[in-house]
Amino acid sequence: MGRMPNKNNKPRRLAFAGTLVALVYLQVAQAATVASPNGRIVFEVDTDAGGAPVYSVRFDDEAVVTDARLGLRFAAQPGFDTGLEIAGTVRNQGDETWEQPWGERRFVRDHFNELLLFFVTSAEPARQLNLQVRAYDDGVGFRYIVPEQDSLDDLHIVDELTEFRLPLDAEAFWVPGYAWNRYEFVYRQTPLIDVALANTPMTLRLPSGTHISLHEAALVDYAGYVLDQRRDGVFKTNLTPWSDGARVKTTAPFKTPWRTIQVADDAIGLLNSDLVLNLNEPNVLGDVSWVEPGKYVGIWWSMHLGLHTWGSGEKHGATTDRASRYIDFAADNGFDGVLIEGWNTGWDGDWSYNGSIFSFTESYDDFDIEAVTDYAREKGVRLVGHHETSGHISNYEAQLEDAFDLYESVGVRQVKTGYVADGGGLQRVDSNGITHREWHDGQFMVGEYLKSVTEAAKRKISINTHEPVKATGLRRTYPNWISREGARGQEYNAGWSEPNPPGHTSMLSFTRMLGGPMDYTPGIFDLTHHGPDSEFRVQTTLMHQLALYVALYSPVQMAADLPENYARFPDAFQFVRDVPTDWDESVALAGEVGDHVVYARKERGGDDWYLGGISGDEARSLHIPLTFLDAGRPYAATIYRDGDDADWAANPYDYRIEERVLDSSDSLQLKLAAGGGVAVRFHPMPEAGQ
Ligand code: NOJ
Repeated sequence: MGRMPNKNNKPRRLAFAGTLVALVYLQVAQAATVASPNGRIVFEVDTDAGGAPVYSVRFDDEAVVTDARLGLRFAAQPGFDTGLEIAGTVRNQGDETWEQPWGERRFVRDHFNELLLFFVTSAEPARQLNLQVRAYDDGVGFRYIVPEQDSLDDLHIVDELTEFRLPLDAEAFWVPGYAWNRYEFVYRQTPLIDVALANTPMTLRLPSGTHISLHEAALVDYAGYVLDQRRDGVFKTNLTPWSDGARVKTTAPFKTPWRTIQVADDAIGLLNSDLVLNLNEPNVLGDVSWVEPGKYVGIWWSMHLGLHTWGSGEKHGATTDRASRYIDFAADNGFDGVLIEGWNTGWDGDWSYNGSIFSFTESYDDFDIEAVTDYAREKGVRLVGHHETSGHISNYEAQLEDAFDLYESVGVRQVKTGYVADGGGLQRVDSNGITHREWHDGQFMVGEYLKSVTEAAKRKISINTHEPVKATGLRRTYPNWISREGARGQEYNAGWSEPNPPGHTSMLSFTRMLGGPMDYTPGIFDLTHHGPDSEFRVQTTLMHQLALYVALYSPVQMAADLPENYARFPDAFQFVRDVPTDWDESVALAGEVGDHVVYARKERGGDDWYLGGISGDEARSLHIPLTFLDAGRPYAATIYRDGDDADWAANPYDYRIEERVLDSSDSLQLKLAAGGGVAVRFHPMPEAGQ
């Protein structure tokens, strides 16, 4: 037990993470700094004249965050906002490499310098707030740790004061916070000053070329935050409230999620970063060999196109017969799963508003789940389950265990969940039968999403969440949280909405994808499904759709189109059949936010490399050295590229497939059409004599 002097000469004990740390006779400290291992990023903490904690972040000589406030306020107790002193610091370092069960890369280096700061209140009764800061070469993370202490139980956090005071000449890429469509908006590119409320990750580009992303890691038992520009350039964390106004209900000891600031010399530096993952806790599930990355098809796109319905009737999509045909298609083409939406009762009427009547175990008369899963098993394919809640959380929760038991009993290993409801419109019915409306990223839902993941894990089932809370790297801790949506996906191209603009996907790489994998559902081959002249079309070339399998990472990827549309382009479809979804290594090679991105990835447990490049509004010609290939080894490269006349609007189906022999000393000059793409499979040539 450590003791330190204070103004009243009473001994004070400093606690860190609930453990008492030996700190003997610490002086009241002045500002403290911690630098990244390479020294380029420096985080400084101080208190201002009123004892309010403030911090700054520098990248070389450039200010990233300047004199921004820190602190917490509570409903019934004095806050940690002013009157604080830095009572001591402890420094640590970390450098270890850990292995991902699945992911963009197998081994991840977690290398940081750490500063633990102990703040105490100058007024009695003395209270303690700790700040934990980790400085990495690719950014910083910091979080509050409130140790156990008198009178800090039953806390309602009413405000988190964390600010980001950002350079005013930054350009921002963002989607609005507290908006009806959750995170599903076309990204905005504006001067920083024009951002109001923004979701995270929010990305910034400085005139120097430095790129910054603000986000959070390990969002557990807390509210997600929205960035709120209060004064010019000063963004405050605005914690998503409960329906009763509290932001977070907790009790000391507790830790907040990490507030993260990724910093890089250029746009692709943000992509080649594992900061958010590294700030999450290691896997708590133990052996997760049952979590299966892979590709799936499904009775899905036809509903979005309006050819079939989720609900019963003549156009009902989820019939036993159609399921068998999709299982055959999956088996014939080497896909692992078949997603079937709309097999369970409750979809009739306007399903997006009648979540209270969904059953998660009862099927429509024309769907036999036993027969379908038996047939799938025979063919070596698995049914991908589906739970659409339509935002009625209490109806779902009441059936959660039965719903997963059913899937477990028929051999389902992956379930796509859905939470369709307007932002702030999720229904929570309390024990008095009163309905409350909650947000998708408030503390209540943060807990509900995790509950579905842990209930599923008990049954060796993985979860792919649609209409999720933002991704904050929890896949490290719960590797069965295999993917999620959380942005405008391909479904917006089906005709029921304005389609995604050509630059949307390369915007996602530098924004939404910084949180983690996204189930975008690539692979639409009929790009003009409502007729060649309709404005409701997919605003990409066919090659862009192939490249998305590499460019937008998800361990589960859908071949989203109808089987008959793949039959029209069998040579291009070969890439969708070949491309893996789990990687030993991934490297972003080129890119600019919302303009283009090029990735190379090496298949997990194999020798093939894949390259995927996508462009936005403008055609691009990119010189890409192939230095990522294993040196000294020739590869048979199959190059799927836009034809010379390709253009997403005028000529989306113009493509060429070329075979070349290439090695790591070669380069490719990639020509991408507007809304275009390129996909390459590099397969090692057999050694001589083989
Ligand atoms: C929205 C999901 O994103 C989509 O994939 C799904 O088909 C519908 N909800 C119905 O659950």
